[in-house]
Formats: sequence, C-alpha cells, structure tokens
Amino acid sequence: MDTLTIKVNALEANESFLRSAVGAYAARLNPTLETIADIKTAVSEAVTNSIVHGYACDPKGIITVNCELADGELTVEISDTGKGIPDVETAMQDFYTTLKGEERSGLGFTIMKSFMDSLEVFSSPGEGTTVKMKKNLCA
Ligand SMILES: Nc1ncnc2c1ncn2[C@@H]1O[C@H](COP(=O)(O)OP(=O)(O)OP(=O)(O)O)[C@@H](O)[C@H]1O
Ligand SMILES: [Mg+2]
Repeated sequence: MDTLTIKVNALEANESFLRSAVGAYAARLNPTLETIADIKTAVSEAVTNSIVHGYACDPKGIITVNCELADGELTVEISDTGKGIPDVETAMQDFYTTLKGEERSGLGFTIMKSFMDSLEVFSSPGEGTTVKMKKNLCA
C-alpha cells in the first residue's frame, strides 16, 4: 500500500499547493518531467473546478485529494462536497461551461482527459463531485 490523503480549504492558494504536492508524490517513481507536468496540469484543472464551480469560491469548502501508487501507476481522486453536476456527460463536452464571460473556456475536462490515461467523473447535485484520474508513470 502506498497512499496519500490531503484535505484543504477551497482557497486559490491551495491550487498551486495541491498540484505541486501530487507532482512531488508521483515523482517518487521517477517518471519523465513531461509526465509530471501533465499530472500537475490535470490536478490543477480539477481543483480549480472544485473551488470555482463546486464551492463558488467559498473557502469554507473542503477539497479532499486521495492518491495511490500501485503497479507503476498513479491514481488521483479529487473530491468536493459542493453543488455537484446535474448532467456529467454534457459538462464533459468540449467548450461546455456554466460560467460564460468569466474567462472560462469550458476545456477543463478536455484537458484532464487528454493529459491523463483515464478520467472518470462521479457527481450528484447537492452532494458533490469526485474526479478520478490515472496515469502510468513508467511509460
Ligand atoms: N467540481 C465541480 N462542481 C460543480 N460543477 C462542476 C465541477 N467541475 C466542473 N463542473 C461543471 O462542468 C463544467 C465544465 O467544466 P470544465 O472544467 O470543462 O470547464 P470550465 O471550468 O467551465 O472552464 P475552464 O476549465 O476551461 O476554465 C463547468 O462549467 C461546471 O458547470
Ligand atoms: Mg474548469
């Protein structure tokens, strides 16, 4: 077993903290710098979504990050207990955003999917959202 759990408040400062923390954890298996950069980008997109969409920038919200290293692969789960997503399939489409005109381009999920090996999104309105992503570190 090799796991890591972090809980932080939904503060903008924790976006850079969490991307660095998960990047540093994954670095233990000596992936390429490009792989670490991909992971950091994907984590950053998911954490930003929890802050701006899940909690509407309310710093009382808690973001939980669970990581696991197993068989040369990183699994990272980013969860919030915020407002949730009514229709995940629609939300994951390229350019779909509910914050138009606020410098959101609707590409966060597109980026997570293209930078990681797999992406799953679990969400219920009023209960919150979990984004689960995997990345092979030995490729
Ligand atoms: N954690 C979350 N809680 C609630 N809604 C979310 C969450 N993550 C995503 N969403 C919803 O899914 C939509 C698409 O997310 P995505 O990250 O692809 O685009 P965006 O955040 O709107 O724009 P961008 O990421 O390009 O700045 C969001 O506009 C929002 O409605
Ligand atoms: Mg986003």
